[in-house]
Amino acid sequence: MRHFLDIHTTSPKELRRIIDTGRAIKEARKGKPKGALDQETPLKDHVVALIFEKPSTRTRVSFDVGVRQMGGSTMVLSGADMQLGHGETIADTARVLSRYVDLIMMRTFEEDTLLEMAEHATVPVINGLTNRTHPCQIMADILTFEEHNGPIRGKKVVWSGDGNNVFASFAHAAKQFEFDLVFTGPPPLDPEGSLDGLYSIVRDPHEAVEGADLVVTDTWVSMHDPQSARERRHNQLRGYQVNRALMDSAKPDALFMHCLPAHRDDEATSEVMDGPNSVIFDEAENRLHAQKAVMKWCLES
Ligand code: CP
Repeated sequence: MRHFLDIHTTSPKELRRIIDTGRAIKEARKGKPKGALDQETPLKDHVVALIFEKPSTRTRVSFDVGVRQMGGSTMVLSGADMQLGHGETIADTARVLSRYVDLIMMRTFEEDTLLEMAEHATVPVINGLTNRTHPCQIMADILTFEEHNGPIRGKKVVWSGDGNNVFASFAHAAKQFEFDLVFTGPPPLDPEGSLDGLYSIVRDPHEAVEGADLVVTDTWVSMHDPQSARERRHNQLRGYQVNRALMDSAKPDALFMHCLPAHRDDEATSEVMDGPNSVIFDEAENRLHAQKAVMKWCLES
């Protein structure tokens, strides 16, 4: 049994195996209706609990559809509606769920909640986002980059904006997949210092994206940020918007990614989001394929 909790706690060899499996799973499904079963159904007779303590569109739907395509069934649970939201301990919840289901995917606030769930569960636990990281998103992003531009090893990736939880998983991935990651953003929104990842900081966004193979951004106010911070954040981040002028400083074939949901014309212009370099909807689709590979990997002995 294997948990998928973070990119830096999974070996480069296993991560590569997951990416390659995701690509093969995607290839094998070409032309099939979304509801058709995969050729291989490793989740046959399996039940997967999908726990959400925060809102979600992509994570919720892609995990749900992925489990069904692999022959299993799902139970989507809202943290607030469970006893977990009314005082039952995480440890007891983990022990109880493990008696009913074969796999748990959890989106929660504090990383410690996820880690405690994994510690006490006797079935695999997958990180569907915490305030600190979003590893499933970055697995989909690596798959997407490699589909379009080949191996990511040695490539230059630039993150423009807030050093948030999605950036943290990119920093973990830079170390494990051996690519060059540059953060460009204002000092108050730098990534947290204790990240076990690899990146450099260049304050000027145009200087940062010179020679970039991939430019990435994310919403300026994350789900766990107070809405009262909105105006200050917009003032701090306005100069880091990904627009046509910024993309023109990158390589001509540089890709643009955003994990979505986006606030169009804040962190990135619609011109870039809908432009020829954008692969944002491939990224969204690849959540499905990459996560199927993650679930398969978790259940392999
Ligand atoms: N990118 C992402 O995790 O999307 P959702 O919040 O819609 O799941």
